[in-house]
Amino acid sequence: MKPREIRPKVHWVGAIDWDRRLFDALIPLPDGTSYNAYLVQGSQKVALIDTVDPSVTEVLMSYLEDIPVIDYVIANHAEQDHSGSIPKVLEKYPDAKVVTTPKGKGMLMDLLLVPDNRFITVNDGETLSLGDRTLEFIHAPWVHWPETMLTYLREDKVLFPCDLFGSHLATTDLYVTDEGQGYEAAKRYYAEIMMPFRTNIQKHLEKIRHYQIDSIAPSHGPMHAKPSFILEAYHSWVFDPPRNIVVLPYISMHGSTHKMVEYFVGALADRGVTVKQFNLSAADVGKLAMALVDAATMVIGTPTVLAGPHPNVAYAALLANALRPKLQFISIIGSYGWGGRAVEQLQGMIPNLKVEVLDTVISKGLPKESDFKALDNLASMIAEKHRSQNFA
Ligand code: FEO
Repeated sequence: MKPREIRPKVHWVGAIDWDRRLFDALIPLPDGTSYNAYLVQGSQKVALIDTVDPSVTEVLMSYLEDIPVIDYVIANHAEQDHSGSIPKVLEKYPDAKVVTTPKGKGMLMDLLLVPDNRFITVNDGETLSLGDRTLEFIHAPWVHWPETMLTYLREDKVLFPCDLFGSHLATTDLYVTDEGQGYEAAKRYYAEIMMPFRTNIQKHLEKIRHYQIDSIAPSHGPMHAKPSFILEAYHSWVFDPPRNIVVLPYISMHGSTHKMVEYFVGALADRGVTVKQFNLSAADVGKLAMALVDAATMVIGTPTVLAGPHPNVAYAALLANALRPKLQFISIIGSYGWGGRAVEQLQGMIPNLKVEVLDTVISKGLPKESDFKALDNLASMIAEKHRSQNFA
């Protein structure tokens, strides 16, 4: 592929990774991803905004074959999928400087052993002239590491936010063309990576509201020629109250928990509550994370294994705890054969969730009439709590 022009003298020089299926050895990538870097050739200076994952450094270097000078490498984020090719770029351009936040400098020195004399650190709001182009740096910590910043190309009104507003989507389209697909990929990305930092993102959205932005060029997935599409989506994810939704991750070993889940989902649906059910024996945890973006309640379904929750259920609870969604209520349903402490152990796994813990329903063996009655009561309680808070 050749560099692709997005503005006169501004080119996408990224790498599309069609085959990657796992990120950070944790996050599923059903649609691959891309690592987007951008070359800005000003009348006096040349800047490269972000680099690419070290596994595809050669792709970036091939774009740079005919570029004699790079003056600045803008490192919006120190994570290796964007910074990992910096050492190679610095090797090819011995006078180039890495431009980053003070925190970014420390992290790049630690993670990539970039020497101290190769850095220029920038403060929030500071600018860098490339001659006829100006880069403005907007500190935006915690999207999703502490050092992150956004870069704004003033004359062209293009925002380069690195991970923020990105999506793990391999595509040859430079811009989002299918809004349904773009929304789904961006929401998955937000859920898996950005959701724990919701309050920081609220501040960043307020901050960039004062900038005129004609397009957004993230460092994963397609760009946004219509910024309002992604800005409104983020606004809704971080500011809106949760919705009238129960997320129900569960697993069943011998059918008891499954019977309870089946009955309970029907009871909630009868009461007008939307349920998103995930059988954790084969669930896509990315979809579970996406469901958590809007849900008001999570009900975990587990059998008892060796006196505790099933390990897959424990994983889902730990994941929800790490992602810190907007959940307001939580409950646990499930079963046991002869004893155990599944409920207490699960409750101990979610200290980050500021939720009201509702009644639990645990059956001994197969659920009986009294268990179904308790599930009906729990469904009524959830429906009433959602109604009283106007969760729509
Ligand atoms: Fe795409 Fe946080 O790196």
